Amino acid sequence: MNALKPNARTADDVYRRSMGQLLVLYTQVDRLLMEICAERIASAPDEPAKLALARQVGDESRHVAIQRQWMTKFGTDTSPVLTPDQETRIRDHFRNLPWLDFLADVYLCVEALGSEAVESIVPLADPGTRESLDVPLRDELDHIAFGISRLRQELAQLTDARRAAFLAKLPQRIEDLAEAFLEGGPDLETLFSGVGADYDGLCDILLRRRDEILRQVAA
Ligand SMILES: [Fe+2]
Ligand SMILES: [Fe+2]
Repeated sequence: MNALKPNARTADDVYRRSMGQLLVLYTQVDRLLMEICAERIASAPDEPAKLALARQVGDESRHVAIQRQWMTKFGTDTSPVLTPDQETRIRDHFRNLPWLDFLADVYLCVEALGSEAVESIVPLADPGTRESLDVPLRDELDHIAFGISRLRQELAQLTDARRAAFLAKLPQRIEDLAEAFLEGGPDLETLFSGVGADYDGLCDILLRRRDEILRQVAA
């Protein structure tokens, strides 16, 4: 960190560049989620699921619009952080998933853990960025709540053995997915450190959050 802060001016540049990249990444993920959820509406198993997905599509599109507006004001370089190949890989992954796996990957991994990472930088953010994250992060709580309750509902339909097997594989599933998505992607440690976050501390927070969600799903 100290090497990145030779003087205040440079520190501010590092902050703005890093925060800008994190904002671009968040916006790209929201837009991908918007597309992924829109595609899933037709094959969702029942009307409550279709309605929740449709609502989420609207929410994510609003998040993209809010973030785009803020990034223009903030003067962010809006070049994509995820490459077109990575975006395609992510879309393909979700497109081919059975419903139960879709719920786990969208809501536990991307929504719950992704939001936790975004939440962690809110206290470090400048007032404008903080305000831009207000509505999106509030909506993400609804998305996570839907995902967890729907996952519990689906798991309750399974035999005890299948339910236990699914739950037992979840931690590895989350780890594999995070690794697959981040492969060849942005250097998150540099970006989070650039906005003043303690990256190792953040990883610990995410692990704790993961365990908390897994407990909720299994309860
Ligand atoms: Fe969002
Ligand atoms: Fe969301």
